[in-house]
Parts: sequence; structure tokens; C-alpha cells
Amino acid sequence: MADDARKDEDLKDEDLKDEDLKDEDLKDEDLKDERLGDDSLKGRRERREGDRVPVVVFDKVTKTYNVGKADEFTAIKDVTFTVEDIPDKGEFVSILGPSGCGKSTVLRLIAGLEPQHPATSGNVRVYGQQVAGPGADRGMVFQAYTSFDHRTVLRNVMFGLECRGDMSRAEREELAKEWIDKVGLSVKHDADKYPHELSGGMQQRVAIARTLILRPKIILMDEPFGALDPLTRMHMQDTLIQLWREVEATVFFVTHSIDESVYLGDRVYLFSNSPGKILKEIDVPPPDRPAMAMQREKGFQQVVFDIRDLIDRLEREQDEHERELEDAAAAAR
Ligand SMILES: Nc1ncnc2c1ncn2[C@@H]1O[C@H](COP(=O)(O)OP(=O)(O)O)[C@@H](O)[C@H]1O
Ligand SMILES: [Mg+2]
Repeated sequence: MADDARKDEDLKDEDLKDEDLKDEDLKDEDLKDERLGDDSLKGRRERREGDRVPVVVFDKVTKTYNVGKADEFTAIKDVTFTVEDIPDKGEFVSILGPSGCGKSTVLRLIAGLEPQHPATSGNVRVYGQQVAGPGADRGMVFQAYTSFDHRTVLRNVMFGLECRGDMSRAEREELAKEWIDKVGLSVKHDADKYPHELSGGMQQRVAIARTLILRPKIILMDEPFGALDPLTRMHMQDTLIQLWREVEATVFFVTHSIDESVYLGDRVYLFSNSPGKILKEIDVPPPDRPAMAMQREKGFQQVVFDIRDLIDRLEREQDEHERELEDAAAAAR
């Protein structure tokens, strides 16, 4: 066990060194531009700095529900993180944590959806702007099935385009058919079906098509595969990874499955309970093989076990810390 823990530490150090190196590189580049003092280079530098406006910033974000009422409850406290803009490749961020730790709260604050939005204190910024409400740059996929019952698959997928109103009906239909195909449904067999005629997995495929057809730069997914059987879930994970590569968006993916968070994520934010905060940020191997193959591998399983041990340890440490605080408070009385 001790050895395993050390391996974990070593891995982390490797990751950190990598990060440091990247920062060094950037600084070096900037310095070079400074020295040359060339106007064209200055433009390039500004453009690059512009590129580097982070996708999402949480700055000490706290959300308290029912402020001032008897049932006042702080769901997340001082949550702070930054997701950088990686050119031509959005990042895939998994948000992992137990039920009730504030995962949906975080996601809906990014989406600008009430009553989670606005935060009680702190600052939520998307591409440098404080979030003021929902926007076309952010698309959301929920766990619960959210399509319109009275619309066919095709018309559900077309819905967002209709609202946007910048395409002819024929163009909308053509694009919707493309997306029905992309998410692994059949234009011939499924396009004219109604939602109740579809399995849970197919319904979530429709939900993904409805969201991604609008090409949001940020995709927010709240336990979208939580209700699916394990095999369907893995197929959905594969589809999602393929589409994510294509649309080059930044994905925030909420799950309470360690396997799922490790498989899908470039990075895992590990959340803890009461009130929710990030316990740890973990870099994990990218999903460069099919879900079923990769999740069977020893190396993958080891990362999952390490995270499970880490959660266990961090939660025990946190409990201890809270008990100490309580004891100290009791002693002071
Ligand atoms: N609108 C609300 N009013 C009051 N409490 C809420 C509301 N939404 C969520 N909560 C509480 O905040 C906590 C975090 O909720 P949530 O973000 O939904 O957690 P998760 O998605 O991790 O399960 C939970 O204890 C939940 O009961
Ligand atoms: Mg939730």
C-alpha cells in the first residue's frame, strides 16, 4: 500500500513537472518577443495572449441556497479552478464526486441556469466574461431525458436550429440528418420515431445531437449516461469521445463513476461533500482506445483503484480535520 501511495505521488510529480515546463516555454516565447521588439511579433503575442483567455474560471465561488431562511444551505464553498483554452482541442474535464456534493451546482453555474445562477459570492467567468445567464456558447445535456414528446427525432434535433432561425428548412433538415447519423442513430429507421419509441441510450443520443448540432464551444453534461446499462454506457462513451474530437469543444462531464471519469477525462476534478469543494485535480491518461478495451486494461484499473484509495484517504483526513475543529470549538466554550 505504502509503495502504491508513493507511486501515486511520483506520478503526480511527473505531471507537475510537465505543467511547469509548459509555463516555462510560454514565458520564454514572451521574453523572446520582448527582446525583438518587432511590431508583427507584438501582434502575434497579443493574439496569443488573446487565445489564452481561459475557457472557464471559478474564483472562490460559493453557492448558498435559501439565504436567510431556516433551510439555508451552502452547497459549494470557495470553489476555485481554471480551465485554459487549448487551441484546436478543447479539454475534457470530468467532475467526480458523491451524490449531493455540488456537481450539478457547478455545472449549472457555468450554464447560467437558475436557481444555481447567480453564485452567492465569488466569480464565474466564461471566456473572460462574468456569466450573466445562458448563452449559445454553452450547451447542456442532462441525465433526465429532455426532448419534446410530441416531436419526432428529426424535429427534436432540428429544434435549436429553428430557434436560431438562420437556416432554411431544407438546410436544417439536412444538418439534422447528418447529426442523427453522427450520434449513431439511423436516419432511415429512427428519424421519424417519437421519443417514447426509443431506448434510454437512443434517447440520450438524440439529446447529444440536439445539443452538439448547435456547436457550442462548451458542452456541459450532467450524468448523461447515469441511467444506462454498462454496455450501452461504454458505447455512448465511445461516441462522445469521437464527437468531442470532431467539435473541438471543452467538455465538463459530471459523473459519480470513477471509471467513467478516468476514461473520458483529460483531467478529473475530485469533489467532496458538505460543503462541496475540489479536493484534488488529477491528470489522467487520455481516452485513445475504445472504452471496452481500455477499461479492461491493468493500467487503467490501477488508476481507478488509486483514485478510489485517494478518495478514501482524503475523506478520512477531512473527517478528522472537521472533528479536530469541533473539538477545538468545544474546548474554547
Ligand atoms: N435549488 C436548491 N435549493 C436548495 N438546495 C439545493 C438546491 N439545489 C441543490 N441543493 C442542495 O445542494 C447540494 C448540492 O446539490 P447538487 O449540486 O445537485 O449536487 P450533485 O449534483 O453533486 O448531486 C445538495 O445537498 C442539494 O440538496
Ligand atoms: Mg447532480
